[in-house]
Formats: sequence, structure tokens, C-alpha cells
Amino acid sequence: MTEKSHERLLIIDFGSQVTQLIARRLRELNVYCEIHPFNTVDDAFLKAFSPKAVIFSGGPCSVIDADSPRPPESVYTLGVPILGICYGQQVMMQMLGGQVERGHGTAEFGRAYVTPSDADLELLAGWFQTEREQVWMSHGDHVAKIAPGFEVFGTSPNAPYAITADRARNFYAVQFHPEVHHTPNGAMLYENFVRMAGFSGDWTMGAYREQAIAAIREQVGDGKVICALSGGVDSSVAAVLIHEAVGEQLTCVYVDHGLMRKNESEEVVGMFREHYNLPLIHADESELFLGQLDGVSDPETKRKIIGKLFIDVFEQKAKEIGGADFLAQGTLYPDVIESVSFSGGPSVTIKSHHNVGGLPEKMGMKLVEPLRELFKDEVRALGVELGLPKSFIGRHPFPGPGLAIRCPGEITREKLDILREADAVYIDQIRKHGLYDDIWQAFVAILPVRTVGVMGDGRTYDFACALRAVTSVDGMTADYYPFSHEFLGETATRIINEVPGINRVTYDITSKPPGTIEWE
Ligand code: XMP
Repeated sequence: MTEKSHERLLIIDFGSQVTQLIARRLRELNVYCEIHPFNTVDDAFLKAFSPKAVIFSGGPCSVIDADSPRPPESVYTLGVPILGICYGQQVMMQMLGGQVERGHGTAEFGRAYVTPSDADLELLAGWFQTEREQVWMSHGDHVAKIAPGFEVFGTSPNAPYAITADRARNFYAVQFHPEVHHTPNGAMLYENFVRMAGFSGDWTMGAYREQAIAAIREQVGDGKVICALSGGVDSSVAAVLIHEAVGEQLTCVYVDHGLMRKNESEEVVGMFREHYNLPLIHADESELFLGQLDGVSDPETKRKIIGKLFIDVFEQKAKEIGGADFLAQGTLYPDVIESVSFSGGPSVTIKSHHNVGGLPEKMGMKLVEPLRELFKDEVRALGVELGLPKSFIGRHPFPGPGLAIRCPGEITREKLDILREADAVYIDQIRKHGLYDDIWQAFVAILPVRTVGVMGDGRTYDFACALRAVTSVDGMTADYYPFSHEFLGETATRIINEVPGINRVTYDITSKPPGTIEWE
């Protein structure tokens, strides 16, 4: 989408690990922003983007090195406020006539405290509630001389120029990271910055919904759209939004691969049929998928088989409705942001993720991706705006290959049935204890071992299972959820009593990394 009716802020990325958090903080303030790597931002780009303000992110390089990353000179003549953070401060000072020096004993990593100077600065309005503010630093180099026109408004023990500004030009530069959690009041600096830049906070989900609908209508015209509906939040919100825009021109296909959780297919299909009256094909292909997975135990082979069959089925269903011009996908902004890579090497494939990639080219379809500009929590807010039930929007993520990757070793119908029952009891426990929304994802994995137990007076020889529950913000890193021993004990007892076929329950306390969230 190239919608430009909202006010725009440009974040120039110099490769910091936390650049996305700057965007998060701004979006929370109803300010629309985009992250672009420094090497894609030139004079023409700046002109076309037409930002109302610019932020320079941090980054791992040293401005002292030749060929270190820089923004184009013309950014300083746009006449809009600029905020430089960490490397962003250093690059600004270096380019505008100041001086940056190598660390040598002045590096600062982690928590630090900034104290204010006497002069007032609107950027800091309301910030210094006490004598000093906690901030998070992460710098080796430091500014040794500030550029002409700049003054100092805050210092820390190792950063005499922790907060600097050229008030006449509206340039601000800080050595610390206001976007991270460990700068507890950092959001206030962004709030002040966007207010000073004149943002009206026009980025709301209500406004976005209207714009997105208009953009979808324009893109699709009277073409036909097809959407793979998984029951997950992203594809559901995309489908409902596109349905609002082009009505019956959209057909959704729900592929049931026989690897869904207990009652899941009925719930998803029922919800859509009941609330949305949109054309929906429920393809029950469990025989096909389970047949081809018979005897397969290698995780990557499972994923590849499921991914390929999914595409075959989807393609077949598309043919049955007479083809489609567009494929709808719930791609999110974090998938779109091009990251700046300084390591150069390709990253290792840990798991081949299941999606409908490759289909558009194969079938000559164009993509409709109405969520490309949104973060996950914005997608949820849009879902609420579109009237999707809250219970649906808050659902934990569920992987495309479904229970196949929660059943290490060979997949059998017997194991899948046991797994569905155990998972249902576990999730019921989590809901009953009011923990569902505190957890990113929770599920049961059935283990490929039988163990000996004793129930009543008899010996049992049944499957063991593992409970998994993690906290996370994006699924990239995760920690295990600290259930109480009472909760774990009660859940284990319920699973063993209520689910024939399981006689042992374990709790997986591996974080990611080194583990992954799913077992395969
Ligand atoms: P891992 O197991 O890699 O999972 O730590 C991270 C997140 O991704 C989900 N996941 C998938 N989602 N298709 C998906 O749509 C997949 O093939 C897939 N594999 C893992 C996983 O559930 C977790 O939320």
C-alpha cells in the first residue's frame, strides 16, 4: 500500500538491535512511521517520503571508521526535526562539525543515570521527576566535542553529552536509548518529540480501516481474491478486512490437514460462517495429509510434505472456483522490514516455515497484503475494530504444520487423538487459572516414548507428554512460564486421570534460545 494521507515519520536504521522498538513507541503514540536502512535512503527517497520528522537509530559501527554508515547530507536541510539516538547522535555530531572519539575507558553498557543541566528543553518536558533519570546506554565511542549550534541538556558519568540539542534547527541527539524498557520514562521523550514536530496522532485503527478498504478496492478492482484461512489472527483479520472491501469477490479456503486441535475446525469455520457470511470452502483433507505422513518421523520431511500438500490442495480449490487474480496474505510489518546486516553471511535455516510462498508466481496471482504496515498488536486492535470476537483475537499462535510438529517421531492417529485431549485439558486449566493472556503460547507435545506407571492396582505402559508454555514478545526469543508447583501438579493429575493413553507428564523449562518454542 502506498497510502500517504497520514503524517509520516522516517526512522533511518543504522543496524541497532532495538530499532523496531522505536517504531513501537511511536505507533503507540498514534504516529505512523517506517524504518528504512540507511543505504536505501537517498535524496530522492527523502523527497518522495516527505517525512514530518526523522529519527536516526543506534547501530554497531563506529563513525570514526572510513565508510561508516551515514544519512544523506540533504536530511539536514529538510527543515524537519531530527532526533539522533546513540550511533545516531554520533553520526549527527560528526557530520555537523563535532567530534567523536573511541571508547578507551569511557564505554558505557547498561544502566546509567542522567542528570539535567540548568537550561530548559521542550524535549525533556516532564521528564526529570527526580534529580536523575535512569537510562540505558550501549556505546563504545563517545562524543568528545559537540557540533556548533548544539548545547548540553543532560550528562551521565561517562557521557558528558548525554542529551544535546540545537534548538534553532530542531535537532536533538541523545547518547542513550529512550526506546527500551530499561529507560523507564523514555516514551516521554518520544511523546515530546512528536508533539514538537506537530504530529496530530492521526494513526488510529479506525482511520486505518477506512484507508485500507479504499486501497484494497483500488488494487483489486473487479478481480477475484482467494485467501488461505488458518484461523490465526493475521489471516482472519486480513480476510474480514478484504471481505469488507470487496465482499463476494473474496473466497476463503480453510484447509483441514487433520492436524488441528480439538474442535478447532468446527470453531473456526463456524465463527466465520456465523459472523461473516463470507464465501468459505472447508476442505477436509485429513486423509490425504495423514496418509502421506504415515511412517515419517524426520521434522523437516514432515514440514516439507505438509507445505507441498497444502499448496496442491489450495491450488485445486482455486481451480474449482474458476481461478483467482489475487492471493491475500496476512504478512505483518516485522516480516517486511529489511534489516541492516553487517555480518554479511546467510543465516542458518532452523526450520522451514510453512506458508503459501511460491503460489502467486506459480498461479500468476498478485498479492494483497493489507497488514503489511502493522505490528501484531495493531492487527489485534484492527480485529477489534472489525468486530472479531475478543476471544478469537487473543488466541495463542498456532503453527501451520499443526500438531505434526508437536508429535516428535512417527505421527499416528492414536497419538494425535491422545494429544488433542491432553492439550484441551491443559488449555482448560490455563484458562481456569486466568493465565491464558499472560502466556504467549501453551501446548502439549506427545513424546515418542511409553513409560511404566501404576494406576489403581494395575500396571500401565502409556505415553509421556510434555507441557510447554512460554512468554515472548515476538516468538523470536522466549522464556518458560513460571507456573506454580500447585498448578503443575493439578494439571498433571487431571491429564493422567482424564486422558487415557498418558501416564506421565513433564514440564519443559527450556528457553529460546537454546530451545525453540515448538518441539520440531
Ligand atoms: P519456533 O518453534 O521456531 O517457533 O521457536 C516460533 C513461532 O513460530 C511458530 N511456528 C510456525 N508458524 N508456520 C507458522 O505459521 C510454521 O511452520 C511454524 N513453525 C513454528 C511457533 O508456533 C511459534 O509461535
